[in-house]
Amino acid sequence: MVASKKPDTEYAEILTQAFVLQKTGMPDAALKVCNRAIDNGQDNEEIILLAAKIYVEQGELNAARTLLVNSMPKFSEYLEIGVALGDICNKLGLTVEAKQHLRSVLDISPDHPLATIILSQIQVKEGDFNSVCTTLDNGISASRPDPWIYYLAATMLDNFGRPDLAALYLLRAKERYPNDIHHSFFLSAVGDGVVPERAPIDHLRELFDKSADNYDSHLNSIGNASPRHIVEIIEHLNLEGRGDTSILDAGCGTGMNGDLLRPHASWLEGVDVSPKMLKQAEDRGCYDQLHCRDMVEFCCHTPQKYDLIVLTDVLSYFGALGEILDNLRRCLTDDGHIAFSVELLDSGTADKAGFKLAVNGRYSHSLEYVMDMLNLAGYAQPEFERKDILRQEFGVPVYCMVFIARKRTAK
Ligand SMILES: C[S@@+](CC[C@H](N)C(=O)[O-])C[C@H]1O[C@@H](n2cnc3c(N)ncnc32)[C@H](O)[C@@H]1O
Repeated sequence: MVASKKPDTEYAEILTQAFVLQKTGMPDAALKVCNRAIDNGQDNEEIILLAAKIYVEQGELNAARTLLVNSMPKFSEYLEIGVALGDICNKLGLTVEAKQHLRSVLDISPDHPLATIILSQIQVKEGDFNSVCTTLDNGISASRPDPWIYYLAATMLDNFGRPDLAALYLLRAKERYPNDIHHSFFLSAVGDGVVPERAPIDHLRELFDKSADNYDSHLNSIGNASPRHIVEIIEHLNLEGRGDTSILDAGCGTGMNGDLLRPHASWLEGVDVSPKMLKQAEDRGCYDQLHCRDMVEFCCHTPQKYDLIVLTDVLSYFGALGEILDNLRRCLTDDGHIAFSVELLDSGTADKAGFKLAVNGRYSHSLEYVMDMLNLAGYAQPEFERKDILRQEFGVPVYCMVFIARKRTAK
C-alpha cells in the first residue's frame, strides 16, 4: 500500500465539482457526480472516499461499506480506504471485519494515527486493555510531530473507566513534549494539579484553530445537536418571522448557528477566541459583526445590549459558571434571555463543586449547580429545560441539558 497520489486533471475536476456541491449543502448532487465517475471508471481513491463520506453523513453505512469493499481490488494500495472501511465496519458492529481492515493498514504503516485509534477503540470496548496498550504503543511513533494521539488515547481510556491508563499516556505526552501547552490542563482532570475554573484561552485557541477546517463535517459525523437546539430556542421564544431581535452568538465557532438565527435577527453578532473558526463564520456572511475575543472580556466591555444570547456547546469550556453568567447578564436587555446547553454531570457523581473536568478538556455540570448559578447571577427560574444527546463520543452518547432563562430585573 502507498500514500495517495495527487489526482490528475480529469480526476481533480470531478473531485472539485463533487466537493463544492457537498460543501454547499447539495450532497445528493455530489454523490451523483462521484457515482457517475465510478460507473465510468473515471474514479480515483479520493472520489471513492468522498462518496463514502457522503453516504456516512447520510446515515447509509451499508452503502458506504459496499462501495469501499468493491473498490478495494482496484485501490488495494491506498491505505485510507482500509481505514475508512475499518471505521465503517466498526460503526456497523462488524468488529471482526473492522479489525481485519485496520490490522492490514497497521501492518504496512504501524503508526497510522486513525487506524491506531479506531482499533484501540474496538479493543477498549471489548475490555481488552492489554491489546489496547500494545496497539497504542505501536501506533505512537517516535517521529510523530505532535502529542494529540496521546490526548485522544487518554480520553478514550478515561471514557471507558481507566483514568489510571489515561494518566499514563498524558504523562508520556508531557515527557515527550514538555513545551506543549495542553497536557497540564488535561492532567488536572486526572488529579495531577488543581482543576482550573475554566479552560485556558491559549488551549482553546489552539484546539479550535486546529480543528476548524474539519469542524463541521466532524460534528455532523458524531451527531451535532446545536442546530436542533437553535431551532428549539427560536420556537420557544417565538422569534419566527419577527426579525426584531438582537442576538449575540457567544462562542459562535464556524457560525453554524448563524444561518439559522439570521432570518429572525435584527442584529446578529458573534464572538469567539479562535481566529480560524471565526474565518469560517465570516465566510458564511450572516453575521453583522464578529469579534475575536474571550467572551468574558468581551461582555465586560461591550456597550451593546442583546435581547438574546445563545451559547450552544460552549459552557463545556467553563467549569465555574458564576463569572460568565454574571457578565452575560450585563449585556442583556431588561427582559432579555440567555439560552445555552451544558454537558450533564450525573448528580450522583458530582462533587461539591457541581462541575467536573474530563480528560477531553470539557467540563460537565450538575443540574442543581446550573440552577443555583442562574439564580445567584440574576436570572429567573428557566422557562425551558430539556435533556438531549449532545454527541456520540467513541460510540457512547453524551447527554446535555438545554436551558432558556430570562434576566431578572432585580439581581
Ligand atoms: C464546541 S464549539 C461550538 C460552536 C458553536 N456554538 C456551535 O454550537 O456550533 C465551542 C466554541 O466556543 C469557543 N469558545 C470557548 N470558550 C470561549 C471563550 N471563553 N470566549 C470565546 N469563545 C470561546 C471555541 O473557540 C469554539 O469555537
